[in-house]
Amino acid sequence: MARRSQFVPWKAAGRVSERQTDADDVVRTTGWVFNNETGQQLTLASFVATGDEEVGSYLHTFGLDGDDAAGKDLVEIGSGIGRMTCAFTKRFRCVTACDLDAGFLERCRESVARFGRPKSLRTLEVADGRTIRLPDNSADVAFSFITLQHCRRDHALALTTEAVRVVRSGGRIALNYRRRSPIDAVLVPVGSVVRTVFKIPGIGTTMSRHRSMTRLAWQANRLAPHDLVVAVGRALRDVEVWHNPHRAIDGAGATTRTMAGVNPSHWWLVATVA
Ligand SMILES: C[S@@+](CC[C@H](N)C(=O)[O-])C[C@H]1O[C@@H](n2cnc3c(N)ncnc32)[C@H](O)[C@@H]1O
Repeated sequence: MARRSQFVPWKAAGRVSERQTDADDVVRTTGWVFNNETGQQLTLASFVATGDEEVGSYLHTFGLDGDDAAGKDLVEIGSGIGRMTCAFTKRFRCVTACDLDAGFLERCRESVARFGRPKSLRTLEVADGRTIRLPDNSADVAFSFITLQHCRRDHALALTTEAVRVVRSGGRIALNYRRRSPIDAVLVPVGSVVRTVFKIPGIGTTMSRHRSMTRLAWQANRLAPHDLVVAVGRALRDVEVWHNPHRAIDGAGATTRTMAGVNPSHWWLVATVA
């Protein structure tokens, strides 16, 4: 497969994570890939604890933590090394953790083996960055956090369509996106240049150890509620757009709701599949 530039920073980070002895080392040395922190004091346990807390908070806020969750199947798009996946496996019957990078999925299995419920976990490589190889109507919930902003725009839209396709009628989606901010006038074009530099053999791996370079390379797309309503709105009902209370958003006809914990640059599409 052609080396797509938006894959390169993640694939380089995945190779770095594969070379660490275990997931504790991944968190100590490349934790910033997910939560911007590194340091010898860090552990996989503390990393997963941040995911446990966020999963509890988002599921509760979005009404996805009912007593019936134990009989439901969840698809997580962009699981990384399983920071949130561990918590999902303890709550849902079956969790399909999907990621672009097979190395991250290997670490995800390790994380869930230590801190989650491995018998509930399946992993699925999103080899082309846009297709979730699951049957139609095969899950009850699709969830994605800090991932769809890191894909090419058409891939983020394709993955959203895939989330709606794999969720059964009456099931729910909770998908996180990044919106446009004034600083994007610089960040987005610089990110594109940095991704190109990442493609130079040998340089990507070195660059992927530098947080600032990798964070620039991630800046792949910005989407507004209007973009998603156009793309998948007709397949959804009870559409909600969740955002930070200090930053208003045009919900494109959806119900807008606020949650203090939402990053001011992010928003969530929460809806029922029609
Ligand atoms: C910032 S991490 C977030 C991981 C996890 N959701 C969390 O909050 O800890 C983003 C993840 O998305 C994955 N990713 C990026 N582009 C993707 C794509 N097109 N399809 C699937 N996964 C993708 C990356 O490999 C990475 O593991």
